[in-house]
Amino acid sequence: MPRSRFLGTGFAVPDRVVGNDDLSKLMDTSDEWIRTRTGIQERRWVREGETGADLAFRATGQALESADLRAGDLDAIVYATSTPDHFAPGGGVFLQRMLGIGTIPAIDIRTQCSGFVYALSVADAWIRCGQYRRILVVGAEVQSTGMDVSTEGRNTAVIFADGAGAVVLGPSEDERRGILAFDLHSEGKHAEKLWVDSPGSMYHPRVSPEHLTAGRHFLQMDGKEVFRHAVIRMPESVRAVLAATGHGTADLALLLAHQANLRISEMMQRDLGLRDDQVYNNIQRYGNTTAATIPIALDECVRAGRISPGDLLVLTAFGSGFMWGSAAVRW
Ligand SMILES: CC(C)(COP(=O)(O)OP(=O)(O)OC[C@H]1O[C@@H](n2cnc3c(N)ncnc32)[C@H](O)[C@@H]1OP(=O)(O)O)[C@@H](O)C(=O)NCCC(=O)NCCS
Repeated sequence: MPRSRFLGTGFAVPDRVVGNDDLSKLMDTSDEWIRTRTGIQERRWVREGETGADLAFRATGQALESADLRAGDLDAIVYATSTPDHFAPGGGVFLQRMLGIGTIPAIDIRTQCSGFVYALSVADAWIRCGQYRRILVVGAEVQSTGMDVSTEGRNTAVIFADGAGAVVLGPSEDERRGILAFDLHSEGKHAEKLWVDSPGSMYHPRVSPEHLTAGRHFLQMDGKEVFRHAVIRMPESVRAVLAATGHGTADLALLLAHQANLRISEMMQRDLGLRDDQVYNNIQRYGNTTAATIPIALDECVRAGRISPGDLLVLTAFGSGFMWGSAAVRW
């Protein structure tokens, strides 16, 4: 079975920059609080009418260009989002329609912040079993339209943001290169610690004026609990995926961690004993774009020349569910 490797990468964020001072005009917060607690300096929010599929389409264009492929060369789309443009169908088909390509399958992966790692695992399995050869894997999110931007919602509104990243995966001719292993987990007993309650099919109607008044359609987060689990689970998963490949943290060229909060990333770096050149953070500029953080960071690193052929990378994420996981990659 061939391993799957990355043929191209790309990302897109809205051009609307929202600084910390812009947020302090909407809610009781400050640039100082946001920088020291989260590391975020600015983030991007969509303009009215701009969708997750729009961002995914732009990211896909870059990924295809860097892979030297055209949309028509794709065999499947795996689309990770926790914020689909509509309740149904998923975001993947809207992207497929924009790409103007035949009838290839498009599935959505709804595993929130760990969405991109889970999406990669699905695409990798398809490639390894020979079902598809060229798979577009996307992480795309629009969080800004679902946040309470009053003081009541400030613990999430300052963190979450919009963006999309895309990669094209294909079979590797060199059996030593490509995706080496995955480590995936979930723990549903924490489902309500980071969630959007409504709309939900358990309610009739799925969303009501009472839900809206109570703010149950906003992202709700128990920040301290998320933090506590994230700083344990991500390092644990990084070690597990490295062990599965017979490697240790000293062999790691680059850790690309989900950009949840700079303090979480820094604690993880210390726990794993990694040097600064072994990690990459860009949350300062984009905030937490959920399933999009890893492919955005990956594309920035590729374009900046921070990743060379043969490098060992680990991609790791933790988030709502709780769900978490890692992928080890020989670039
Ligand atoms: C959200 C988070 C930054 C809050 O930081 P914290 O140090 O835990 O802060 P607390 O929640 O204890 O709040 C401390 C105080 O700051 C206030 N506060 C919360 N958000 C604030 C904001 N945006 N601006 C100003 N003050 C804020 C709180 O109301 C609280 O005030 P109080 O002491 O008067 O009650 C932190 O918990 C966190 O990063 N959690 C993980 C979030 C995450 O990574 N989510 C994504 C996972 S995928």
